[in-house]
Amino acid sequence: MTARLIDGRARAARLRAELAREVAQMRADKGVMPGLAVVLIGADPASGIYVRSKVRACEETGMRSDLHALSDSTSEAELLALIARLNGDPTVHGILVQLPLPPQIDRARVLAAISPDKDVDGFHPINAGRLATGQQALVPCTPRGCMMLLEEEIGDLRGLTACVIGCSPIVGRPMVQLLLHRDCSVLVAHKFTADPGALARQADILVVAAGVPGLVTSDWIRPGAVVIDVGINRITRPDGSSNIIGDVAEGAADLAAAITPVPGGVGPMTIACLLSNTLDAARAANPEAANSNAA
Ligand code: GUN
Repeated sequence: MTARLIDGRARAARLRAELAREVAQMRADKGVMPGLAVVLIGADPASGIYVRSKVRACEETGMRSDLHALSDSTSEAELLALIARLNGDPTVHGILVQLPLPPQIDRARVLAAISPDKDVDGFHPINAGRLATGQQALVPCTPRGCMMLLEEEIGDLRGLTACVIGCSPIVGRPMVQLLLHRDCSVLVAHKFTADPGALARQADILVVAAGVPGLVTSDWIRPGAVVIDVGINRITRPDGSSNIIGDVAEGAADLAAAITPVPGGVGPMTIACLLSNTLDAARAANPEAANSNAA
């Protein structure tokens, strides 16, 4: 038996088409064009690729996107000054500072400086707190995308056992909160967990966000489980060729009901959810435009 592949590209394309319609309506009815400011510091090739695909996706959806590409030697004060300017700019509805940051810049200070209302990554402590306490929040894009895929695949998640492998503030921790909000029982494994496979094996839903290529082997996966592989690991071979693989070993999920492929699973959902968060932030900033879709 082979697990069904969950087509994140198709789901993301549908969401993006829906968002493009809503953006067009907002622009036509209210004259508001959602705007995202993306800040990239340094020349990390992977970050450059991610950022450019985010900017392109915005433009394809009819939103404005400004890329602020700063040098590796940018000081924290300079970055904080840019964020303060973007916070005060009414044409900017979302601000994203691409991570990781160079060592001279304190990540926590930078993320906390972004207005929580423009925090389309959902990384600000206020948004993390709102999510944890069940309030309306901007939710981190990758876990939000994972939940959309799970809900489409399974429907009602109530009472299911979920296991999240990895507890980063970007994916694992918010994923735990979202699964709890859907009334799952949630197990969390991380690098200090003695036997993560033993937790994973109990799960109806297994979300793997460890950043360790091929970590999850077939004995970790309960037959019939739905597996979400968040890993995006570039593997370079001795001949210089490379490809992207996930955190789930090839063939490990043969007995699962379904799994997200890498690439083409979670990755496209992350970008689509960034667009969705930007539109949500633009609506919240322009309440008179919020019901443009309701007529
Ligand atoms: N670096 C890797 N993933 C992300 C993300 O989702 N947002 C930001 N800002 N930086 C990242």
